Amino acid sequence: MDILNSITIRHVKKYYGSGSSQVKALDGVDLSVAQGEFVAIVGASGSGKTTLLNMMGGLDAPTEGEVIVDGVNLGGLREEQRAVFRRKKVGFIFQNYNLVPTLTVEENILFPLDLDGSAPDFKFLEEMTELLGLRDKLQVYPGALSGGQQQRAAIARALMAKPAIILADEPTGNLDSQNGQNVAGLLKMTAQLTHRTLVLVTHNLELAQLADRVVQMKDGRIVSQ
Ligand SMILES: Nc1ncnc2c1ncn2[C@@H]1O[C@H](COP(=O)(O)OP(=O)(O)O)[C@@H](O)[C@H]1O
Ligand SMILES: [Mg+2]
Repeated sequence: MDILNSITIRHVKKYYGSGSSQVKALDGVDLSVAQGEFVAIVGASGSGKTTLLNMMGGLDAPTEGEVIVDGVNLGGLREEQRAVFRRKKVGFIFQNYNLVPTLTVEENILFPLDLDGSAPDFKFLEEMTELLGLRDKLQVYPGALSGGQQQRAAIARALMAKPAIILADEPTGNLDSQNGQNVAGLLKMTAQLTHRTLVLVTHNLELAQLADRVVQMKDGRIVSQ
């Protein structure tokens, strides 16, 4: 059954610290995301959205429970296996972009492939950067880009390895509402065109409406979906 699901989160808990200072970032989460589905995760700050996304991407391991992504149980992987898994299967778009300032936009986009020694699909790079309005920015450094352009460069980097799953953590957080709509729409369109699974964390309910399904979190739990 898991084969049909891109992502299966089963009884996942993530606790930080211990005793009276213990934080239950995730407190029993069950969630399945189908292949090609677009799911938005909403909820107040501190409700566990980023922690959940990090679990899906193998950036962090749960205290309890199982995370199965694209048929692979992440709990069974060693750290370096998880790193390889991440680079091949998951495209992460971080809240703060995480572009490398000393690399050009093109080098940033190709960076995850370089790490894996994979040959880039330059035609795809061309099409995607055209679509994202970055064609004339490939040779410049991130510092010379606007916030919106940096965001789109981060999207291009996440998509370059053609990952099965795209995980985006408030990728429109620093954009005005029009640019936010544009970026979210672009993500949705790219995911649809390439049949990718897309999980988008956002606190913007209007953007969440673009998704096939909206999952709401509160205090480390899913309260509605
Ligand atoms: N590395 C960490 N160490 C301790 N507490 C953390 C850590 N990461 C997150 N938390 C706590 O876990 C809870 C959920 O955080 P997070 O997943 O970042 O929420 P959200 O993304 O919804 O704002 C918060 O109370 C946060 O302070
Ligand atoms: Mg967060």
